[in-house]
Amino acid sequence: MRILVTGATGFIGRRLIPALLDAGHRVRVLLRPDVRNPCLPPGQPVEVALSRLDDRSGLQAALAHVDAVVHLATGEHRGPRGRALYPVDVAGTRHLAAAAHRGVRVVVYLSHLGASPTAAYPVLRAKGLAEQALRQAATHFPTTIVRVGPVVGPGDHFVRPLARWVRTWPAGWPLPLPGGGSTLVHPLWLEDLVAALLVLLEEPAFWGRVYELGGPEHLTLHEVVQALQAHLRRPHPLVAMPPLLARWATFWLHNLWPGFPFHPYWLDYLATHRTADPDTLPREFGILPERLTALLPLILPREAPA
Ligand SMILES: NC(=O)c1ccc[n+]([C@@H]2O[C@H](COP(=O)([O-])OP(=O)(O)OC[C@H]3O[C@@H](n4cnc5c(N)ncnc54)[C@H](OP(=O)(O)O)[C@@H]3O)[C@@H](O)[C@H]2O)c1
Repeated sequence: MRILVTGATGFIGRRLIPALLDAGHRVRVLLRPDVRNPCLPPGQPVEVALSRLDDRSGLQAALAHVDAVVHLATGEHRGPRGRALYPVDVAGTRHLAAAAHRGVRVVVYLSHLGASPTAAYPVLRAKGLAEQALRQAATHFPTTIVRVGPVVGPGDHFVRPLARWVRTWPAGWPLPLPGGGSTLVHPLWLEDLVAALLVLLEEPAFWGRVYELGGPEHLTLHEVVQALQAHLRRPHPLVAMPPLLARWATFWLHNLWPGFPFHPYWLDYLATHRTADPDTLPREFGILPERLTALLPLILPREAPA
């Protein structure tokens, strides 16, 4: 298949590209016009399409002769300061859905557990609206929606900021966690996600459905931080911080301190328990997912900086 990947330069896209090529697919990446060099994995034979996500004819050209689309572009990880969440995730997805032609056999969209057009939290609402736009276009092509919690791997957006927080917090000081870290999260190993995406793309029986995927364990944020502390050998007493105070502090620190590891959208991931059935990956995809604790040495080699 010829597969167009948006967001190919991101954390998940950079790993997905070599996996698609290894599986024998032809890969076209959609890059936005930019003066910076794209952060693509080196040495990969990909076709490149240059277009903004609001350029209808540019998107149509990028989609020419494409069989499948994996839509990963997002503005969420730049935080509210980036002002890119709605333009990229919602409007960008609407433009892509409008530009996609009938020859596209499937669109795979990576969303968040808890996504809903009526969600109270910006990231979950944006993802819900993007899903809605793709579902409305589904008369032209099936859309498979894959909802996941935090995807973990080297350079991720979940473990890495938490590890920086744990590493930089002064030794012995109580380390605050929003709500005491009682929220349940459902981490998923990047390699397990990529393996599932390959199965989804290649097997039409999976098309046009919604999957909620996660790893083998539901963990509280408290348990994740404790595992990180043990791995990094940075013990601190953990204390509860009221969630509203955590939002307020994150808003100001994100705006005033460029190196602050969290942004307000990051707290959306912890706003509610977001878990999936841990049996879905083994049962439906034949994948036995990895545990976060077993992965920490791979994600955060002790000698490397966070
Ligand atoms: N990572 C997770 O834990 C997680 C969990 C659940 C769902 N997801 C979803 O999975 C998808 C991929 O996530 P990720 O972690 O790989 O994201 P990421 O690392 O932040 O990468 C974002 C990608 O989107 C591209 N992008 C940003 N603005 C763009 C624009 N205006 N036009 C075109 N491309 C643009 C970026 O390109 P540049 O390099 O040019 O900036 C980059 O390639 C997202 O939809 C995300 O919501 C991720």
